[in-house]
Amino acid sequence: MIRISLVEKAPKAPSALVLLAWEKEEGFLNAPGKAWDALRKVLEQEGFAGKESQGAFAHTGKGSPKVYALGLGSREKATSETFRRAGGRLARKARESRQEEVVLEWPRSFRGGRLKAFLEGVLLGSYQFTRYKTQREDLPSGLRSLSLQVPSGSKAEAKEAIRLAESYCAGAILARDLINGAPSDVTPRVLADAARKMAKGKVRVKVYGKSDLKRMGAGGLLGVNIGSAQEPYLIHLHYRPKGGAKRGKGPVAIVGKGITFDSGGLSLKPAGSMETMKMDMSGAAAVLGVFSQLNALAPAVEVHGIIATTENMPGGRAYKPGDVLKAMNGKTMEVLNTDAEGRLILADALSYAVRQKPGAIIDMATLTGACIVALGWLVTGAMGNDPKLLGELGAASEEEGERLWELPLVEEYRNDIKSRVADIKNIGGGRDAGTIIGGLFLQEFVGETSWVHLDIAGPAYPERDYPTIPYLGSFAGTGWMVRSLLTFLRGR
Ligand code: BES
Ligand code: MN
Ligand code: ZN
Repeated sequence: MIRISLVEKAPKAPSALVLLAWEKEEGFLNAPGKAWDALRKVLEQEGFAGKESQGAFAHTGKGSPKVYALGLGSREKATSETFRRAGGRLARKARESRQEEVVLEWPRSFRGGRLKAFLEGVLLGSYQFTRYKTQREDLPSGLRSLSLQVPSGSKAEAKEAIRLAESYCAGAILARDLINGAPSDVTPRVLADAARKMAKGKVRVKVYGKSDLKRMGAGGLLGVNIGSAQEPYLIHLHYRPKGGAKRGKGPVAIVGKGITFDSGGLSLKPAGSMETMKMDMSGAAAVLGVFSQLNALAPAVEVHGIIATTENMPGGRAYKPGDVLKAMNGKTMEVLNTDAEGRLILADALSYAVRQKPGAIIDMATLTGACIVALGWLVTGAMGNDPKLLGELGAASEEEGERLWELPLVEEYRNDIKSRVADIKNIGGGRDAGTIIGGLFLQEFVGETSWVHLDIAGPAYPERDYPTIPYLGSFAGTGWMVRSLLTFLRGR
C-alpha cells in the first residue's frame, strides 16, 4: 500500500499538487490565490469544468509542480462516494503519468468521513496484483506516497480518517489478493491457513477437516467435494470484544461461499464460463478481509465468521445429478445440477451458523449468474427475512459505495424447489428468477434467525472496466463488502 503522511506545511518544491474543484464554482477549493485560479481558467478552455467524472493533468512550467485537478461535481449532490471516486481517479491518472508522489492540502471545511473516502479511493485505485509478473515493464509504477497537509485544528480527525482508510483497504486488499490468485495456488487449505493466521488478540479460529465434517454430518460440503483432490474445510472464526458485547442485539455471523474453483462438476460449465471461476470464493475472501481488521478496529459486537470451502470438480468419484445429500441440519437435498453447488455447501455453513445462536446472519456468495443478468456488475442482489437488518446493511453499503438492491423472496416460488424424492432440490424448473430461487433455497437453513443473503456474483469480480469507478482496481477482484461490513459492524 502507498504511504500516507501528515505534513505541517507543503514541501518547498513538491513535484505534484492535487487540486479539487466543484462544478460551477470559481477557482480551486484548496488553493486559493490568483495564480491557481488562472490555471483553472486555462484548464476550462481545454474542457475541465469540475464535473464529477473529470480529472485533468497540467504541467505548470519548469521548476513548478505538476497539477492534478479533480472535479467533484456539484456541491449539493456530493456524497462520500464522490470523494472515493475522486481518489480513485487520482490514482489512475498518476499511474498513467508515472507520478510516484503527490501533495494534497485538505480543505478545512471537509470532515473526516470525506477524507477517509478519498483515501480509500487512492489506496484501492493504486492496487496492483503483481504476484505472477516477472517482467519489470509489465509493472506500471503508480503512486507511492501521498503527503496530506491539514489545518492544525483537524489533525486528530485526519489521523483517524487515515487509520480507518488504511485498515478498511488492507482488509479489501487481502480479499483481492486471495481472489486474484490462481485457483491451484489458492486452494481450500490456503484459505484455512489464512484464517489460522488471524488467531490473535480477540480472534479465535477453528478449522474442521474431512473427518470432522463426516462426524458433523456436513453432507452438502462433503458431497460437492467428492470430485476434488483437495480436502474441504469448514472454517470458524470468532471475535469477542473486550468486556463482552456492549449492546443487546447479539452476535453477528458472517458466512462466505468458498468454492476455490467452480468447474460446474459433472454439469460442466462451457470453457468461457469457467475462465473466471477462481473468483467463486469471493464471499469467503470477504469474511477473511473483515476478520483481518477486527482486532485493530475493535467493534463492540461479537462476530462469527464461517466459511465453507472446497473445489467443485468433475471426476470418477464426483457427485452426480440424481444424488441426494443430507445437510448438517438434517434436511435432504436432491442434486439435479452439480453446478448449483454454492447453495449445497452453504446449507451446511448456515446450519452451523444457526447453532452459534447469533442475532443476525449475513451470507455472501457468488451464487448465481442470473444475478448478473438482473443487476449487472455493480450491484449486489440482497434477500432476507428481516427488513430492519437489510436496512442497516443497506445504509452501510451506501456509505461505502457498494450498492445493493433487494429482490423479493416470493413465497409462491418455493414450489419450484420441491423435490419428488428428497426435502428440496437444488434447482428450480426453468431459467426464471434464478437468484430468488437461490435465496429461497438458502432460507431453508436459517430457520427463524434474522438473516440477509447477498448474491455478489457481479460486483465481486466485474468482467468490465468501469472508468468512472477506478477504485475497483485494474484487476477484477474487488474485495466487495469488506468495507461495508466493517462499517456495519462498527455501527452495531
Ligand atoms: N459460481 C456460479 C455463479 C456465478 C456465475 C458467479 C458467473 C459469477 C459469475 C454458481 O455456482 C453457478 O454455477 N450457478 C448456476 C446456478 C444454476 C445451475 C441454477 C448458474 O448461475 O448458472
Ligand atoms: Mn456453480
Ligand atoms: Zn459456484
